[in-house]
Amino acid sequence: MNRFVSPSILAADFINLSKEVLNINKSKAGWLHCDVMDGVFVPNLSIGFPVIESLKKNSSKPLDVHLMIVEPEKFIDRFCSIGIDILTVHAEACRHLQRAIQQIKENGTKAGVALNPHTPVETLSEVISEIDFVLIMSVNPGFGGQKFIENTYDKVDKLKKLISLSNSSALIQVDGGIDLTNARKLYDHGVNILVSGTSVFHTADPSKAVNDLLSV
Ligand code: DX5
Ligand code: ZN
Repeated sequence: MNRFVSPSILAADFINLSKEVLNINKSKAGWLHCDVMDGVFVPNLSIGFPVIESLKKNSSKPLDVHLMIVEPEKFIDRFCSIGIDILTVHAEACRHLQRAIQQIKENGTKAGVALNPHTPVETLSEVISEIDFVLIMSVNPGFGGQKFIENTYDKVDKLKKLISLSNSSALIQVDGGIDLTNARKLYDHGVNILVSGTSVFHTADPSKAVNDLLSV
């Protein structure tokens, strides 16, 4: 079964970033999730190139970069050149989504597409066979620590159907408000990757928290 946890560095203690990364390195995390925000696509700012470059040098986990920015096409090549492993753009932010997906793949990077809570999975019907991951937002993007949206389970079910009807091999990520109370149910609905910030880093032992989310 292809399932793992991608801890979201947004919830880390940034003054102790190297310690936080070392904790994740020794955990069973599959990836390290990095949220990039521009204050336009979402009402918040976060990290950019210098921090992602440092994370790349210090993380033993594949870097999973989630772009919450307008016109992500402008920055795809530069993010990929850092050597990140997965680059996710929002469907709502791309005027030419298929071109953005191709741009990511031409760099040799795996391509993900994220959907805001209001965006139907059918938005992806014409590109689903070209993408490696679909990221379903289970909160409105922009902030950590928000409440999980319950409609996410239905949306995952719809996405599973779309993936199998299209013979796509895309894996499903869910991001936002994930903790030990909903992780099991998400796996049961067929989610492959749980992205979790608060319930990993706002604990005494982030490495253990990752492992607990994996083995619910
Ligand atoms: C929200 C980000 C998430 C966030 C998740 O816009 O995309 O990755 O860090 O954090 P929690 O787990 O605290 O909801
Ligand atoms: Zn994210």
